[in-house]
Amino acid sequence: MSPKFECSFNTISLRRISSVQNKDNTGKISKFEPFSEMVKRRRSEASRSVLFFLSEKSSIEDLIECCNTHGKVNNCFEFYQNGYYAIIEFKKKESISSLRERIYKPDILQQFQNELIYHRLFKYDIKSNQVSISHRKKNYINKEPLNSDLIKAICHADSVSHQIEMLANEQALRDEGVRMRFLSCTLIEEACRTMFPDCQVLPFGSSVNNFGKRNCDVDMYLDLNVEPGMIPIIQNTNFKVVFDEESATNERFATQNTLRTLSKYLKKCVPHCTNVYNILHASCPLVKFRHQALGLSCDLTANNRGAIHSSEMLHIYSKFDKRVQPLVFLIRHWGRYHGLTNKSPGMWITNYPLTLLVVAFLQTRPVPILPKFLDLISTDSSFDDIDYSFPNVKGFLQEANETTLADLLHEFFVFCMKFEFHNRGLSVRHGSDFINNTNFPLFIENPLVDNLNCCKNVTKTLVAKLKSSAAEALWVMDKAAFLNTTPWGIALLFLTPKKIDKIMKEQASGPYHEQVERVLDLFPKS
Ligand code: CTP
Ligand code: MG
Repeated sequence: MSPKFECSFNTISLRRISSVQNKDNTGKISKFEPFSEMVKRRRSEASRSVLFFLSEKSSIEDLIECCNTHGKVNNCFEFYQNGYYAIIEFKKKESISSLRERIYKPDILQQFQNELIYHRLFKYDIKSNQVSISHRKKNYINKEPLNSDLIKAICHADSVSHQIEMLANEQALRDEGVRMRFLSCTLIEEACRTMFPDCQVLPFGSSVNNFGKRNCDVDMYLDLNVEPGMIPIIQNTNFKVVFDEESATNERFATQNTLRTLSKYLKKCVPHCTNVYNILHASCPLVKFRHQALGLSCDLTANNRGAIHSSEMLHIYSKFDKRVQPLVFLIRHWGRYHGLTNKSPGMWITNYPLTLLVVAFLQTRPVPILPKFLDLISTDSSFDDIDYSFPNVKGFLQEANETTLADLLHEFFVFCMKFEFHNRGLSVRHGSDFINNTNFPLFIENPLVDNLNCCKNVTKTLVAKLKSSAAEALWVMDKAAFLNTTPWGIALLFLTPKKIDKIMKEQASGPYHEQVERVLDLFPKS
């Protein structure tokens, strides 16, 4: 097989689309579910769900039977997180009240003035003869697969493009993971409603934008639905909402106060919230905490509506073309592996701007694969006034570019290597590059705010590293062994040059399973 990484323009299809459609693996066209509909559906599921802590000898089957006596159970799954838990989704919300009325309530709970925060957390402790503790499966939903397991899974693919798709499949959040994230938001929302009766807690970022990995954090946005200046204050031990004159003039100060109060409340009163701490001086103030039972790290923010819009934008792009999600997953994984991104604050590119970089790359192909953001929204006058009758794509020719994923990956690395980041910036809003006459070594415009750079923190050294890592990746991809994929292919992008050399020398020889073992041996045991 000879390497082929150029665009193939010979089969251009000129189908005009009026709404975003996707082809699934069988080639069937599936209709795009708008973001707001998806959020509504998931929130509804979450509001009808309860969380059970299961004793070691209780069985999920018995639990379902018990729950069914309170109303039809729609869905359930069991998971392990320092103990066995189950999430039960009822068909109707009323079933939760029925369940609550007939359960044993310890005296301690009677003392709480507000039971709201406990009303969907239960314990099931009825022994079952069928449960054998030693054989009980530990279902870790939020665990990311090990690198070696990922490689093992993808090495049976018949092409590099297929490998890239498989990597995304292996890493992506499963339905259960999404359910857990929405459940965590509704549980925190109910807790916050003791202070802000009209508030909503909504997930944003990778939990909802289709680029989330199985272990991704939950970014939460607290929408207070109150006038600016109304902030909660603590008087003795009671929480009250009063009008605060000082904060009324400063939105940021009000947000910090709200989050400071909430963090005390989460720490002291809300079950399963641990490791609570504030980062209130960040550009986007937040409270970090861990939801112990669900095994989720959460970042709670307020006054951050734009983040919901940008998540919606990425959600649309992820569905717009079936190559977008796998390509982003691979580049995010590659970026993490080569130290371009990092979870802690610093000079790194975070996953959000890295994703924007991939989107901008796809928008700026000679035959664009994604439309500019301004074409996705119906009004370009103000981003406060986005018409959510998405998608509304102005005559964009979808499917005109049929480049394979492998070729796109190669083109992406060429793009990173050649693009003059110090002279030019990238705009997803306009789907183009522009002159960067600032001192920022990397300028990727925030699509929601004209001219605002979301990579202000990124240093020259990091940009140089991006370019050299891209050059290294190209060197690997141009080796014949890369395309003679199985069992290597994209595995080579996650190894050091020394180890790659070793593989190149051996080439594909010996029985297949031995080749796989040889590659796996080269990965760090973690
Ligand atoms: N965000 C932003 N500007 C930034 C960074 C983040 O507006 N410079 C917003 C975006 O809405 C983004 C969200 O914050 O979707 C979450 O950012 P981040 O956690 O970096 O991205 P995720 O997609 O959630 O990736 P990860 O899995 O690393 O959490
Ligand atoms: Mg995130």
